Amino acid sequence: MSASAEPFTIVSESGHSGPQLFEKFHDSTSAKIADIDVQLVTSLRAQYPDLIVTTIPTTNVNLLQFAAAGYATAELEVTEDDPIIRWRGFVPSVHRGREGSLGENRFFSKYRYTWNNEKFIMYCVIVGYNQLQYVLKEPRDGESTLSNSVVTDALIATIGKWMVSDEDVIFVFDNFWTASKELWKQVQKANWDDVILDPSMKKALTSVSGKFFDSEDVYKEYGVPWKRGLIFHGPVGNGKTISIKALMHTLYQRSPKIPSLYVKSAPYTYHIRAVFEFARRMTPCLLILEDIETIVTPANRSYFFNEVDGLENNDGMLTIATTNYLDRLDPGLSKRPSRFDRKYLFPLPSFEERVLYCDYWRRKLQKKPSIEFPKVLCRPMAKITDDFSFAYLQEAFVATLLVLARGEEPGSHEEYAEDGGDGDLESYELYRAFRAQVKLLREDMGSSGVPMHAWCKASNVCRVGWPACGGFTGGASSFRTTDGDAVHFKANHTGAFESWII
Ligand SMILES: Nc1ncnc2c1ncn2[C@@H]1O[C@H](COP(=O)(O)OP(=O)(O)O)[C@@H](O)[C@H]1O
Ligand SMILES: [Mg+2]
Repeated sequence: MSASAEPFTIVSESGHSGPQLFEKFHDSTSAKIADIDVQLVTSLRAQYPDLIVTTIPTTNVNLLQFAAAGYATAELEVTEDDPIIRWRGFVPSVHRGREGSLGENRFFSKYRYTWNNEKFIMYCVIVGYNQLQYVLKEPRDGESTLSNSVVTDALIATIGKWMVSDEDVIFVFDNFWTASKELWKQVQKANWDDVILDPSMKKALTSVSGKFFDSEDVYKEYGVPWKRGLIFHGPVGNGKTISIKALMHTLYQRSPKIPSLYVKSAPYTYHIRAVFEFARRMTPCLLILEDIETIVTPANRSYFFNEVDGLENNDGMLTIATTNYLDRLDPGLSKRPSRFDRKYLFPLPSFEERVLYCDYWRRKLQKKPSIEFPKVLCRPMAKITDDFSFAYLQEAFVATLLVLARGEEPGSHEEYAEDGGDGDLESYELYRAFRAQVKLLREDMGSSGVPMHAWCKASNVCRVGWPACGGFTGGASSFRTTDGDAVHFKANHTGAFESWII
């Protein structure tokens, strides 16, 4: 019979006769019951018959984190017998225009660990949702290989206490929890005075957390769980993060102080569990979920919701989620009032807010006699920066100051004439440089920030003719009319108008 007459064509018989990949896969996924810990401990005891083996879950005693903070050393040891198993991946930056970085998840790794002049052997393994550490130590006086090791116990207790001590640190979750002194220092500098916001919103924001932490008894009296969730949303660069930092600062000044837990990224389900386990232990506390759309993904959403409103007791937890894209959020987050019951919009600054921001810089620069920055410049500066976010405004000032510091030519006079520049203002070097930088930044905004009034005119949709409106690329954008109404604008990705909410 010729090959073509066979019902199935054999594509290749050249494979070897050993176990095929699927068999291996099937074998490893269909064990009746696999308690990996029992297996690993047994095998470690056989491999190191003279040492005490201690299993330590990572959640509240993280040996590598302790070493990373400088309190111990952990030297990776890779040999043929103890190879490393890892995933290498790319972690994109959550901020536009910044580079991401390579990331590594180690599923099997071995370390020489030193703490307090004591040496340990340590293995770290991740299996499913479990992240386990195996610490090996020689027995001391009176100890046998099956007893617990007094030295290892001391290490566990030290790390455990260190992980929950909130002295001058902010807890940051980025694959695991660390205590960041750096962020704490930044937070000490953050101040509500530096945040320009609609006064009523600022008032609401500055009081909401204090009220929450003061009213445990009220929640108890009404028999409702003492927890709340807020969402800060709006286009990038308009104060969500600095407001959170100012809020953290205020909470640290309370007595007793309220610790802040800051989640940068937690894409895996076992991360979500680690985040909430720790947050529960730290209550009352503030839990920040920055860029929540990168934390709650279709893969882990049900797990997340279970942690937020399942059976676990989250009393004393104030959660603030931030997003630049409210309309892209999982409706389970944005439309279920029991989870995140209050939303705060941080829109692009209005004209008057831009004036205030320019004046803020003027006051900042008063100490520099080399820079002439009279108050009369503020309004014209605000005028030429419509549709700028606060972050873009900041960029304009910083770039301007750099140009002046380097003694570069702040821009030619002809250019101003072309732009319809104002002759009186032109005499100020600062204004000339600022104007040139604004022009450059506007080009940079290019496709990512089509000034909406231009688009409105072209599409003939926005007939009210708002003078100050935000740039957008599709998706949602928020802006404010000059008379202060906050507007949420939504367009689909082709730029076609879908809806607006005032
Ligand atoms: N409302 C504001 N008032 C004063 N400065 C602001 C404001 N919003 C943003 N900025 C400036 O822009 C920078 C970026 O703002 P950020 O709070 O990180 O924005 P986002 O809303 O994207 O979290 C801040 O560090 C601050 O310098
Ligand atoms: Mg932010």
